[in-house]
Amino acid sequence: MIPRMAVSASTGTSSTALPRFPGDFLWGVSTSAHQIEGAAELRGRSVWDAFATMPGRVKDGSTADVACDHYHRYREDVALIRDLGVGAYRFSVSWPRVQPTGAGQVSERGLDFYDRLVDELCAAGVRPVPTLFHWDTPLVLEETGGWRRRDTAERFAQYAAVVAERIGDRVPTWITLNEPAEHTLLGHALGEHAPGHRLLFDALPVAHHQLLGHGLAVQALRAAGAGHIGIANSHGPTWAASDEPADREAADFYDLLLNRLFADPLLLGRYPDGIAEILDTPGLDADLKLISAPLDWYGINYYQPTLVGAPGAGPEEFSGVHIPPELPFAPREIEGRPRTDFGWPVVPEAFTELLLDFRDRYADRLPPLIVTENGCSYEGIDDQRRIAFLDGHLRSLHRALAAGVDVRGYFVWSLLDNFEWAEGYRQRFGLVHVDYATLERTPKASYAWLREALRAQR
Ligand code: FCB
Repeated sequence: MIPRMAVSASTGTSSTALPRFPGDFLWGVSTSAHQIEGAAELRGRSVWDAFATMPGRVKDGSTADVACDHYHRYREDVALIRDLGVGAYRFSVSWPRVQPTGAGQVSERGLDFYDRLVDELCAAGVRPVPTLFHWDTPLVLEETGGWRRRDTAERFAQYAAVVAERIGDRVPTWITLNEPAEHTLLGHALGEHAPGHRLLFDALPVAHHQLLGHGLAVQALRAAGAGHIGIANSHGPTWAASDEPADREAADFYDLLLNRLFADPLLLGRYPDGIAEILDTPGLDADLKLISAPLDWYGINYYQPTLVGAPGAGPEEFSGVHIPPELPFAPREIEGRPRTDFGWPVVPEAFTELLLDFRDRYADRLPPLIVTENGCSYEGIDDQRRIAFLDGHLRSLHRALAAGVDVRGYFVWSLLDNFEWAEGYRQRFGLVHVDYATLERTPKASYAWLREALRAQR
């Protein structure tokens, strides 16, 4: 149940303080480069620039050319982060801003931007937590095969080294990739995200090359003296639509794709059964060794559980994504739950379930966890439903902590309303409202609530 009663509608403050988190728990907010920066004319083109010009791909017909204009307004945004009272800011570095063609020539102007941002964060007492790749592959790289090609993994590691060399002296915590599962599934298997390929299971090499890119980037970062390296993967409990064997089998398969395809190689050094055979890559053992180099921490992005059944019986469209009938599973709607404006069911207790299951599944192979994204899409500045969502999920996270799961931090997605990929500007995930006509920032009720909740933790 969501504790709506705990939230006062008039002030947006919780009448019942959150349970106490450990004193050194890392609180933060997250964004990504393509979704907020704008200033597209000052960087190389990415797959998302090209995707947005294909008719009908971004549902409101928008582009991220301006987005929140964070490139020019980063000082104001860092002040909002500082005043919120969080200790960390997770942002992403735009590969095409740093290396316009994805290889070779580096843009000093691009690096200068991240230099200024990191300085501003340090001056505000906020820990910079950069993600090196949040889906914006340089278009030139994509045109020669992108993540379908193995050498993109090497290009990525070279770019990681360039970034580390410039800002590594002030960055204590790093993230290699954001959600390679979504980038594989939505971007390369189903074509709902950039680069828009519909390869279905032929997208599997894209998963492997991202994992390899991660492994090589970890090596490059460590060689450059960087530490405290993690990855941000999306995870969520998968529930079978019924006890029928066909539904259970379909749910297990979906669980494999979302929860194990990336975590098993990273944490156990092997692919789940059946995958290595399909991949059929020479040198797989050596790759897996690189991929499973021990991480300092593991990032989880959590939004919702998924109910899954046998193919043929589910909706043709799910969360705005067309589900091809050839898939061996079909997601179903979770009934009887409140929904966000995106239509995602709000199920805070599934967050505890996920964290406990993760701990049980990976046991002593699991490094400390950090929740690198959690949040919801709701319209409005008096966003009481976002307060209820965050309150419910933080209580749920606390229950996992109390049960002994080693979680060291929590980042809200997102600081600002922003360009929500194929949805364009239609879904608002921010603690801070952005007026896209004037670019004015207005902190929402949830921002005030979180600031008070964090103050009470001190
Ligand atoms: C995650 C993405 C993030 C944002 C949220 C809502 O899958 O990592 O960029 O779009 O969903």
